[in-house]
Amino acid sequence: MYCTRKVSEEVIWIGASDRRLALFENLFPIPRGVAYNSYLIKDEKTAVLDTVDSSVSRQFFENIQHELGDRPLDYLIVNHMEPDHCANIAELLLRYPDMKIVGNAKTFTMIGQFYGVDLKDQAVVVKEGDSLSLGKHKLSFYFAPMVHWPEVMVSYEETEKILFSADAFGSFGALNGNIFNDELDFDRDWLDDARRYYGNIVGKYGPQVQTALKKLSGLDIAVICPLHGPVWRSDLGYLLEKYDLWSRYEPEEKSVAILYASMYGDTENAANVLAAGLAEKGVKNIAVHDVSGTHVSELIGEVFRCSHLVLAAPTYNNGIYPAMLNFLHDCRALNLQNRTVGLIENGTWGPVAAKQMKEILDSLKNMNVLEPVVTVKSALNDASLEQLDALADAVAASLAE
Ligand code: FEO
Repeated sequence: MYCTRKVSEEVIWIGASDRRLALFENLFPIPRGVAYNSYLIKDEKTAVLDTVDSSVSRQFFENIQHELGDRPLDYLIVNHMEPDHCANIAELLLRYPDMKIVGNAKTFTMIGQFYGVDLKDQAVVVKEGDSLSLGKHKLSFYFAPMVHWPEVMVSYEETEKILFSADAFGSFGALNGNIFNDELDFDRDWLDDARRYYGNIVGKYGPQVQTALKKLSGLDIAVICPLHGPVWRSDLGYLLEKYDLWSRYEPEEKSVAILYASMYGDTENAANVLAAGLAEKGVKNIAVHDVSGTHVSELIGEVFRCSHLVLAAPTYNNGIYPAMLNFLHDCRALNLQNRTVGLIENGTWGPVAAKQMKEILDSLKNMNVLEPVVTVKSALNDASLEQLDALADAVAASLAE
């Protein structure tokens, strides 16, 4: 049975949610599921903006069938060619063989690569700023290369001031009937997943996101329709501000997250003692995460949120404990920068974890490593406790700046 919602009288949400998938991209846990948004404009001409993942194809086609009835589908606009949005292009062509497909030159290269279809005169190749009239509605296309794939573009509908933003402004999380931001508690239920989605999927491409934001700042936008997560029809400044911060790698909050790895509990003990010491010094809302038991995508989300980090890890195979090393590799891959970091290492003999963690941090932009670096030899003792207290002073002082 169809399951659609009206964005307006003539713009219909025809997407669907998947609550079965465990790992998005076979990589990121999504316990709250994920939504694949698709939109239909019903004017003199009809247009679908992006399709959906193959897991929800049946719902998608029931939605289109219901909304179009006997009308033809005139256009498919392809803003993004990642298969979670383009998986139904070939099937849509079978059902609507006269449909034209609108994309840019890179779009059509990818359609050929993925689906081996020869579109001949069905392809409408657009350039930056080109427009397409559907009647009352008029779509203009703006390229957003590497946000986060090279072919990405966004479509702006000027009559209703709707931005169809591709993956930008998206989030993990299934839509539970309430598809609009003003129908749900975004700060409470969505912000962490939106940040985790941005940081892990788009985070590497901050400069490209900044370029896109500047380009879009000239448009009068009333509604943002992303390909994942809620549709935004109010409080757009809130969302744009988050994207501006995240894409400049500026923290959302002056706060500290302690990320620790611990084999037998001694490094964990140091993390807990530090957290308690920070609390005694007046630091609030301290976050503590075990890197072995917390998915790295959540740790990356915390880096995007917090101004300060403390990394605590044992020495392992004469290097950094693997779970912490994996996290640091991700930080480097995602171009993370502009954070203040404290370091704690443990080593029963030959501790080298702090030196090697610092080397990775020094390879990132504008990472300020605090002194002192704390060295624990097996378990905290009076000497390392003193170092830990000095680190707590340094973190608290830096947070207060
Ligand atoms: Fe949601 Fe880049 O695909």
